[in-house]
Amino acid sequence: MKTQVAIIGAGPSGLLLGQLLAKSGISNTVIEQRSPDYVLGRIRAGVLEQTTVDLLDTAGVAARMHQEGLPHDGVELCFGGERHRIDLLGLTGKRVMVYGQTEVTRDLMAARSAAGLSTVYQADEVAVHDFDSASPSVSYLKDRVRHTVQADFIAGCDGFHGICRASVPGAAISLHEKVYPFGWLGVLADVPPVSPELIYVQHERGFALCSQRSKARSRYYLQCALSDEVAQWSDEAFWDELKRRLPQATAAQLQTGPAIEKSIAPLRSFVAEPMRFGSLFLVGDAAHIVPPTGAKGLNLAASDVAYLWQAMHSYYAGKHSEIEHYSARALARIWKAERFSWWMTSLMHQFPDAGSFAQKMQRAELDYLLGSQAAMTVLAENYVGLPLA
Ligand code: APR
Ligand code: PHB
Repeated sequence: MKTQVAIIGAGPSGLLLGQLLAKSGISNTVIEQRSPDYVLGRIRAGVLEQTTVDLLDTAGVAARMHQEGLPHDGVELCFGGERHRIDLLGLTGKRVMVYGQTEVTRDLMAARSAAGLSTVYQADEVAVHDFDSASPSVSYLKDRVRHTVQADFIAGCDGFHGICRASVPGAAISLHEKVYPFGWLGVLADVPPVSPELIYVQHERGFALCSQRSKARSRYYLQCALSDEVAQWSDEAFWDELKRRLPQATAAQLQTGPAIEKSIAPLRSFVAEPMRFGSLFLVGDAAHIVPPTGAKGLNLAASDVAYLWQAMHSYYAGKHSEIEHYSARALARIWKAERFSWWMTSLMHQFPDAGSFAQKMQRAELDYLLGSQAAMTVLAENYVGLPLA
């Protein structure tokens, strides 16, 4: 089989890229190792920057998001038992859209299938070949039959554990990583959110986040030890601990209910550079991971997709040079989002080995931030998302 772009991975990166390429008349096949249900079972962050919203609009997959998503004009930080609002709209003129990544993926899947675009799910032994040449290919097993797809380009949209990055010779790639000494325990529950806007909580017992998926569905997180297991955390223990980390008046308003999903995620900052190896391009989590504080993961995946789509569109229109700039363009934005996610993580969490000086610095920084319009603007302009340069 032949296609112009072979896309590996049907997460948000792969599906969004496929949709945009199809809009430009560029043929593509998506090859995914899991089933659609498995892909939709992963619960991830739910805050979209305006540039991501715009890209979903361009891709023609934003109708439900505009109906069901919740535009937020502000976000709260809570420390010392007090809640402080950051006026995102007032400080930057921009807002964010609260709409779950699972729903973004569902909309992309529906659009792909409605457009009749080629997608292979449950592909085994996916492998990339000859990407140092102009005629790369992808092979996979489907129902025990081996298939090969010849392409002009391969887009590695196969996430952090995928095979694309791993197929690059070690000498050709640099990896930069920071692993944090804690995780996030997340609970999804069909209860109304405790507050209309998100609350990021700094507390001596550990960070907490009050987020939401709709007016009837909440998403809450607690900083937990890396050694914690989900089974150790009953629903009751989760809600009790969350209440301890919230101001009393907020805890009193918290509505609790049975968890419909509960999981622990480790926190990591990671970047692989460059993001292009001949005919192979890395996109999204395949190239970089941010800790979830700040909700940049999906938004960064979307900006990679925007850059790669533009580059490929130009390529097929006869302008070959933009392809050369994909990696540098994407990385310039990625490193800024890495910095912001690392900074916000450092600001809001308890670090087990922090001495009293580090704790005082964290406190002073929060105090300064909330007293300075300039500092709040820095936070706000990063939170709503930096422009696509
Ligand atoms: N072959 C085919 N598909 C693969 C392979 C493989 N060898 N390995 C992984 N995959 C698939 C995974 O099953 C998954 O569906 O690639 C997809 C990658 O999707 P994501 O992990 O969601 O990555 P991405 O699309 O880049 O999305 C980035 O996800 O993790 C969040 O915070 C992140 O929000 C961001 C978004
Ligand atoms: C979420 O709703 O899951 C979420 C929101 C904001 C974050 C991280 C996760 O920073």
